[in-house]
Amino acid sequence: MLELTARLSACLDDAAAVILRSKHVVALAGAGLSVESGIPPFRGPGGLWTKYGEPTNLSYREFIRDPGQWWEDRFRNEDRPGDPTYELKVAVDQAKPNLGHHALVEMEELGLLKCVVTQNVDNLHGEAGSRSLLEIHGNRTWLRCVDCGVRQPRDGYHFDSLPPRCTECGGVIKMDTVMFGEPIPEDVLLASREQAETCDCMLLVGTSGTVNPAARLPLVAKELGAKLIEINPGETALTHACDITLNGPSGELLPLLLIRLKNGEGG
Ligand code: APR
Repeated sequence: MLELTARLSACLDDAAAVILRSKHVVALAGAGLSVESGIPPFRGPGGLWTKYGEPTNLSYREFIRDPGQWWEDRFRNEDRPGDPTYELKVAVDQAKPNLGHHALVEMEELGLLKCVVTQNVDNLHGEAGSRSLLEIHGNRTWLRCVDCGVRQPRDGYHFDSLPPRCTECGGVIKMDTVMFGEPIPEDVLLASREQAETCDCMLLVGTSGTVNPAARLPLVAKELGAKLIEINPGETALTHACDITLNGPSGELLPLLLIRLKNGEGG
């Protein structure tokens, strides 16, 4: 349980005041936001890459080399313990949005949050009800054609043959989740960059700030005069650039921030 010290309470007041004065607040979400939903992060304590090692940047090239084999391995490994794919699948399959996700939804409904740019593929923002949402690393519940980019839900899709082929253009279909070494789809990259260039305040929620292009977005926003507010139990690669840092779990800090916003409180 988070200890609400006088200092933390004052930082929460300051953060609420900045948000209430801002016209276009954007949240950049990372894996830390889903930790309280039971999903391990990638780096830091309990991180999947900490445990299994960071994947190489060759994942996408391996997929493109033999997509049929990739899908066969995927179906075979999906239920096999001992690798990050399996561990992440088990955790995400049983995860539900936590109070942090719900607080972001309420901030949006209050008109205090214009967009969530998330690096998470777990679909929890959508389940919680976020409407203005950019999933810069894709979404595990969707499939995407490598050639024409058309997306479709994974649920109900019949994998009659491998690799699955796009009915629109005949291209190879992959998971919508962006792989290491895969270019971020142009549409979501441009939209995310536009949010960074438009916002006057960006909340950095549960991200280590180590993976580009997402990690560059806060710096783009700052260069254009935006205030940065970080919510994270620990220090990150972006802490130095932040105007306010709230140290603690987002599932507890975001609801505390929301209370101040609803009361119109600020420092
Ligand atoms: N609340 C908020 N933040 C938390 C919590 C919590 N309860 N628990 C951990 N964190 C923080 C950690 O301190 C860390 O800074 O969440 C961050 C998680 O960092 P990463 O695991 O690196 O996650 P992220 O920044 O989203 O990674 C970016 O890397 O491997 C790729 O595609 C993957 O989207 C991911 C990207």
